[in-house]
Amino acid sequence: MIKIAVLGYGTVGSGVVEVIDKNIDSITRRIGEEIEVKYVLDLRDFPGDRVESILVHDFDVILNDPEVRIVVEVMGGVEPAYTFVKKCLLAGKSVCTSNKELVASHGPELIKIAREGNNNFLFEASVGGAIPVIRPINSSLTADRILEIKGILNGTTNYILTQMSTQGWEFEDALHKAQELGYAERNPEADIEGYDACRKIAILSSLAFGHNVDYTKVHTEGITGITSTDICYAAAMDSAIKLLASSYCEDGRYYAMVAPFVVHSSHPLYAVSGVYNAIFVKGTDIGDVMFYGSGAGKLPTACAVVADVVDAAKHLGRHIYTSWSQEDLTLTGIDDATRSFYVRIAGKREALEDAVRKEFGDVKFISIKEDPDGFAIVTPPVIERSFKEHIANIPGVTSYIRMEGSSAS
Ligand code: NDP
Ligand code: HSE
Repeated sequence: MIKIAVLGYGTVGSGVVEVIDKNIDSITRRIGEEIEVKYVLDLRDFPGDRVESILVHDFDVILNDPEVRIVVEVMGGVEPAYTFVKKCLLAGKSVCTSNKELVASHGPELIKIAREGNNNFLFEASVGGAIPVIRPINSSLTADRILEIKGILNGTTNYILTQMSTQGWEFEDALHKAQELGYAERNPEADIEGYDACRKIAILSSLAFGHNVDYTKVHTEGITGITSTDICYAAAMDSAIKLLASSYCEDGRYYAMVAPFVVHSSHPLYAVSGVYNAIFVKGTDIGDVMFYGSGAGKLPTACAVVADVVDAAKHLGRHIYTSWSQEDLTLTGIDDATRSFYVRIAGKREALEDAVRKEFGDVKFISIKEDPDGFAIVTPPVIERSFKEHIANIPGVTSYIRMEGSSAS
């Protein structure tokens, strides 16, 4: 019997206990030995709940119990998660986590401690919820050199943008619903400002490129500036707005960014809606591989965590090697990329057409009934640095969004 402990009995933690209870027979068959949740740690009490009798409030009870071989960390946040996880690894326990904040900020150090102690620090659920993507990057794709990763990595923002564009919901209503459904972070600013997707692309890029991508160095924009008028403009272009995270290597230089993009209906990411996430990985010889599935939510995420528990249980006393050096990868700024931009301009098209053409030449003009006092343009592909210089010369520019499919990568 392998005993495990769960730190945090919130959305994901309660899902982990539920999934283990529900699937104990098949999980036992797959490990070759039964597992049992011996403790659940939380700040709150849960009277009448299935975990009432195994609930503890003191982390040391778990740390000091040699019977506990695997610890699931699903509390979220950096502290005290980092301190608890480090202590568990140093005490010879394996740790499985869904906490991307922890993985993005301390991943390489915790992997090293696990390696030195012949145990495991596994974090499949930290990117893409239920989608298996960490394990494939660590194993199935290792024969090739990964050149690019691009995808929708946040369920909350994809849900919000989908509800706004297909149901006409207001931003705030869609966010509240995403919180109710258990998709959003405790502080949803992490979702809507792009920080969550930023940590996830940093984790994937670190694994793909082998060196640490410091998430604080990734250019990050969220979706708080997106309005229902932008969504109407996108629809008029037969497109949708998606928060994309990407990283790529070109001529030995590495780039990473998170930002909203206008995605045309012919693009595979256009159809990724609601809480679903999708991730493209491009390799030199493999070409494109796409991963798709539920990006957030209690049971999908819990399944990914429990799959890590199964892996940890199958590898007790044996480290599963993960290549993630502590050395930082240098990222190049995004201003050198070439792409088209959708630009909103307040004012009459007739009055501003010459100024627009003077800066960008042959642009596409778009007018919609929802924006009677303004219009939009789509520029030809232009270097981002130069784009920013040109729009400064056009009166009335209110906002812009990058167009997907026109980058140099
Ligand atoms: P919740 O806020 O629902 O759950 C966290 C739980 O941990 C709460 O019950 C909280 O208690 C408890 N907790 C917090 N601090 C402590 C502490 N110091 N000691 C004991 N218990 C503590 O979060 P989620 O379950 O949604 O998320 C957990 C992690 O999984 C996060 O890192 C999140 O980013 C990640 N994740 C979440 C997904 C999702 O769909 N929800 C998907 C993928 C990853 P209390 O409420 O009393 O503070
Ligand atoms: N808040 C995150 C999201 C949870 O919406 O994608 C999954 O990591």
